[in-house]
Amino acid sequence: MKGIVLAGGTGSRLFPLTKITNKHLLPIYDKPMIYYPIQSLVEAGIRDLLIVTGGRNSGDFLRLLANGKEFGLKHINYTYQEGEGGIAEALALAEHFAEGSKICVILGDNIIEGSIAQAVQDFQQQERGAKILLKQVDDAERFGVAEIQGDHIVGIEEKPSRPKSNYAVTGIYMYDQTVFDKTRTLKPSARGELEITDVNNAYIREGTMTFNYLEGWWTDAGTFESLIRAANLVHGTLPRQKEPVMAGASGVKDA
Ligand code: G1P
Repeated sequence: MKGIVLAGGTGSRLFPLTKITNKHLLPIYDKPMIYYPIQSLVEAGIRDLLIVTGGRNSGDFLRLLANGKEFGLKHINYTYQEGEGGIAEALALAEHFAEGSKICVILGDNIIEGSIAQAVQDFQQQERGAKILLKQVDDAERFGVAEIQGDHIVGIEEKPSRPKSNYAVTGIYMYDQTVFDKTRTLKPSARGELEITDVNNAYIREGTMTFNYLEGWWTDAGTFESLIRAANLVHGTLPRQKEPVMAGASGVKDA
């Protein structure tokens, strides 16, 4: 399976932090945001990666990530998204890269505690269709929300004012090669974007959408609140580090 990290957009919910840099380059505790989704894919055994980015800072991704040596990779692919057409438009740019393979798409601001290795393995076995990962949340109205009946997902609503469940659709999506035909049929939503939720609903109508529940914590990082939450969650899961003892520090104050 091939991996795609979506890291474009203007990050307008984080202005002025994103006035001079791309959201996905902002720090989450001790690493740039984009390190986390890349790590999630690599840890699941996905080694062929495409980063979709855009805007004035797109060159910084190449400077930061280069060929992915820090992640144990030999090469990373990059592509450029013009303008602000939404997640599904960014995905459409990956068609030449996918070359008929199944793909695992992750939004560049989605940070998880656990592993997606099992879900990726399950989707390898799935003959066709798509798989999404769901997570129970307290603020479902901020996300795509899944309506579930029995063990079936019957629909997804994007940011509903009255969510039908508290299962958020996380920004980790697995698709077969028909995803690109599906993106071609989309019409812009009220916010002027091609919505990933419309792609997912196309699979649901077709009866080929499956889902797994995501283990461990999950957060996005695209608002001030979620940005600091992400940093705190990452910090809280790291092994406790001792502060380095400064050379010459004796605890006795200079006179
Ligand atoms: C996007 C999707 C939404 C999903 C969320 C996960 O929202 O549209 O369905 O639940 O990512 O992070 P956005 O961050 O573009 O508002």
